[in-house]
Amino acid sequence: MASIFFFFFQTISLVHFLVVLACTASLLTYDEECSALFKFKQTHFHQNYYAAGGFLKFDSWRRIKTNTSDCCLFDGVVCSNKGHVIGLDLSQSSLTGVINSSSSLFKLVHLQVLNLSMNNFFESQIPPKIACLKQLRSLDLSYSGFVGQIPNEMSRLILLSWLDLSGNPGLKLQSHGHEHMLQNMTRLESLYLSSVDLNSSVPRFLVNFSSLMHIRLRECRLQDEFPSAIFHLPKLKYIDVGNNPNLTGSLPEFHNNTLLKYLSVSSTGFNGIIPKSISNINHLEFFSLKKSHFSGPIPGSLLNLTQLTFLSLANNEFTGLVPSLASLLELTALNLAFNNLEMGCTYGWINKLTKLNSLKVDSMNIHEEILPYIVNLTKLTFLSMRENFIFGQIPTSFMNLTQLTLLDVGENQLQGPISSLFRSFKSLKYLNIGGNNFSGTVRLDSFLGLNELEILNLDGNSLSFVTTNNHTNDTLPELKYLGLSFCNLKEFPSFLRFQMKMIGLFLSGNEIEGLVPNWIWNNSQATLEIFELRDNFITGFHQHHGFLSLSRLKLFDMAHNQLQGSPPIPPQSIVFYDVSNNNLTGKIPPLICEMKSLQLLDLSSNNMIGMLPSCFKNLFNVLSVLDLKRNIFHGPVMNTCRHGSLLKKLDLSENRFNGKVSRSLASCTNLEFLSLADNSFKDVFPVWLGTLPMIQVLILRSNKFFGAIQGLSTVNSQFHKLRIIDISNNNFSGELPNKSFQTWNAMKFYFNGDLSSMGSEFDFDDVKLTPYEFTYSMTLTNKGVKREYVKILNIFIAIDLSCNNFEGQIPLSLQDLHGLESLNLSNNHFTGPILSSLGNLKKLESLDLSKNELSGQIPQQLLQLGFLSILNVSFNHLDGRIPQGKQFDTFDNNSYMGNRGLCGIPLSIECENSKVSTVFPSTNNNDYGSLMPSDIIDWVVILLGVGSGLLVGVVIGSFVYARYGDSLLQRFGMRKDKWVRPLRNTKRN
Ligand SMILES: *[C@@H]1O[C@H](CO)[C@@H](O)[C@H](O)[C@H]1NC(C)=O
Ligand SMILES: *[C@@H]1O[C@H](CO)[C@@H](O)[C@H](O)[C@H]1NC(C)=O
Repeated sequence: MASIFFFFFQTISLVHFLVVLACTASLLTYDEECSALFKFKQTHFHQNYYAAGGFLKFDSWRRIKTNTSDCCLFDGVVCSNKGHVIGLDLSQSSLTGVINSSSSLFKLVHLQVLNLSMNNFFESQIPPKIACLKQLRSLDLSYSGFVGQIPNEMSRLILLSWLDLSGNPGLKLQSHGHEHMLQNMTRLESLYLSSVDLNSSVPRFLVNFSSLMHIRLRECRLQDEFPSAIFHLPKLKYIDVGNNPNLTGSLPEFHNNTLLKYLSVSSTGFNGIIPKSISNINHLEFFSLKKSHFSGPIPGSLLNLTQLTFLSLANNEFTGLVPSLASLLELTALNLAFNNLEMGCTYGWINKLTKLNSLKVDSMNIHEEILPYIVNLTKLTFLSMRENFIFGQIPTSFMNLTQLTLLDVGENQLQGPISSLFRSFKSLKYLNIGGNNFSGTVRLDSFLGLNELEILNLDGNSLSFVTTNNHTNDTLPELKYLGLSFCNLKEFPSFLRFQMKMIGLFLSGNEIEGLVPNWIWNNSQATLEIFELRDNFITGFHQHHGFLSLSRLKLFDMAHNQLQGSPPIPPQSIVFYDVSNNNLTGKIPPLICEMKSLQLLDLSSNNMIGMLPSCFKNLFNVLSVLDLKRNIFHGPVMNTCRHGSLLKKLDLSENRFNGKVSRSLASCTNLEFLSLADNSFKDVFPVWLGTLPMIQVLILRSNKFFGAIQGLSTVNSQFHKLRIIDISNNNFSGELPNKSFQTWNAMKFYFNGDLSSMGSEFDFDDVKLTPYEFTYSMTLTNKGVKREYVKILNIFIAIDLSCNNFEGQIPLSLQDLHGLESLNLSNNHFTGPILSSLGNLKKLESLDLSKNELSGQIPQQLLQLGFLSILNVSFNHLDGRIPQGKQFDTFDNNSYMGNRGLCGIPLSIECENSKVSTVFPSTNNNDYGSLMPSDIIDWVVILLGVGSGLLVGVVIGSFVYARYGDSLLQRFGMRKDKWVRPLRNTKRN
């Protein structure tokens, strides 16, 4: 080993030596330098090689060569007084091939300026010998296809004031601790390394490079904290460290002598506020903080940056009112979109910014009729105001904005007719007016006259469309994306016949019926990627093979139609395939297993039959989402995930699957959601699923699971992230040990106001800018009624153990699950008292303990449950006074019936006031040993203050089995209205 190392070292020093030797070897004569130039040209110039305008320089080389050869007159060559070549600019000169260390280039040792940018040196490495050109002041190798390590030797070019290696994404710089390539280049004025893979922190020593004027380090995989003193470099004019998501930092206080003109930290981890002292950078022209993590208000001092031409604060977490920016008269681009900003009512200043080319104010809570203020901005080419509450009509003067190429007013409350409004926007490429309240009849032709149009979205207005059939090829724009969802279409618009380059076609929620005609995709076969046709009345295809030949199709969504027969086989490229809620029959075609790119397969709610084909095991390893719910599949489910599976959601519910739960599920290490509900699985509780690190939802309802649940909360079973578990309607039995739930950490916390929900993202749709979100749904039974939750909020936490044969006491570890919203233990044989510590579960909205054998009183602590809207303790052996006040005033008889000893409102049995409660938790005190001091104090108060009596032997005569279930559930459902919908999709009932 040692000798190998030795050898290795020797080789390195030998190379070193050779480089040094070669560099100092010989000083060339003028003629020799000239022929070195020619040699370089001969080796690397390739006329056919792409680089527009390139060979002009070499033209002059050729011409002169036939005369005498005065290389110093060549285009791109500069000589010193003494006749040495000191400058060589061969940028964009169709140079190609590999530069190696024997290149004649390195003979030009007097070079001070070398520019080889915009050529293609075919994955050449930068030869270490570049270090021989010691006189270099300026080196530009940008955009020339260099790859590999930047040689350490380059650190010797200490005279460099300009270094540009940007645009060579294969290039890497390995930092060797203290020895950094840039370390001794203290004269640097311009440092451009964008898209070079630096994969390191920004070196601190740059803080001392007092000559630096330009720093461009975009997309360099920079990490850690950016040394903010760099912003204070005395000569700094230009800094761009954008597109480094792992680079953190903040803006410093700025001094008033800064020369900065250009400042971009977009798409980084930069955070904090914009300091008021920003006004000191009064030369600033370009300022972008886009897509970072800034917060706080936009300081009014921004107004002083009167030189600003570009301002983007988009996609941060800024809050508050936007100050008037009326003084930024030079602005050509203003982007404030997607923050938590408010435009307020003083938006009038916008119309002062008459130089604006681009205005983006999406999602700014604009509740105003703002469009009349925009019409003066006649230079606008981009106008995006999506996701606000802008109302009113589009004023006719809006037609002044003839330069517009992008107009996005989607998701607002605009109204009125739009018939011929858009005709004047001849340059429009992108038009989105979807999600408004426009009305009236529109001739689709009025859009089709916009020849440049590529993206058109009219989704979801109350428009009716008139389509005509007399289109010919040459009058139509070539659309790439067309959104006509929820547009009351009765048939496929016929102009689609002439669309050759469609990429995305969105026709969901219309009333199109019958078969899909072949011409829909005939012309866009090579381009169509997204095809959405949900919620129509489609019954099938004219010809399946047309569908199959869409060679780029990635998303196919034909859910909620009336498709018959077996599912259409998608092309190999398919990623997202949803044909749920149709009338599909037959078995799963094995061809589906061959879809190598498939990530989502949703066949739910059809009438498909048979066993899962054995080839399905291939799919389990590529899919993220597999939904087979509500079909008639049967047989065992075997061979699911293997190591490396990406599966996140698996729903096999409401079929006739049987057998044991396949142990292969333990390899689904990304699984978040598993539902096996309503099948005939027969097994003990799959406690081993607890090792799945991501599992959040586990639904085993209505199967034949049996036996005692053992091993919960051991090291092997953790369920750390579990939030929803429903194992109701099985034959589980035995006691649940007190510690059963102690590792269910996700249930112990709650996050107010988090309205995010579970889903998977599919990132293949460029135009939507955000990834395509597939939201998980689930069916959860509550009191015998199935409800479909179209979203599963990340704060929803529920346990349902009902309808089993559990016995023993309610496990104490429940008291720590502070996030619980719904707890159902009904229809078991639980005994002992109701834990008073359930009063700690402040989020609880529904508590069902009915039909057990619980005894003792209803603990007063349950009065602390401020959100409790459903309580059911009926049919137990409870006694004593029903707690009074707060939520308890809202429960009726049905909550308490079937308990012999309960008294007080709402029951008609009065309590005997004189008797003091004797039935305190009668069980072993140890269980309550972990009560918090405050709980103990509560007990004391209750002891003193409550004179509830124990009524023994009172018989409640009326065992009315009221159908309370439904009505209670409705109340429960109502609060969650938004996320609950009836079982079947009933869009048009
Ligand atoms: C920079 O210069 C110092 C002093 O001459 C030298 O010791 C060091 O090795 C040099 N660093 C690099 C990376 O060349
Ligand atoms: C950022 O950091 C994460 C975690 O260390 C890493 O996986 C990711 O590749 C980094 N991204 C970039 C662009 O450097």
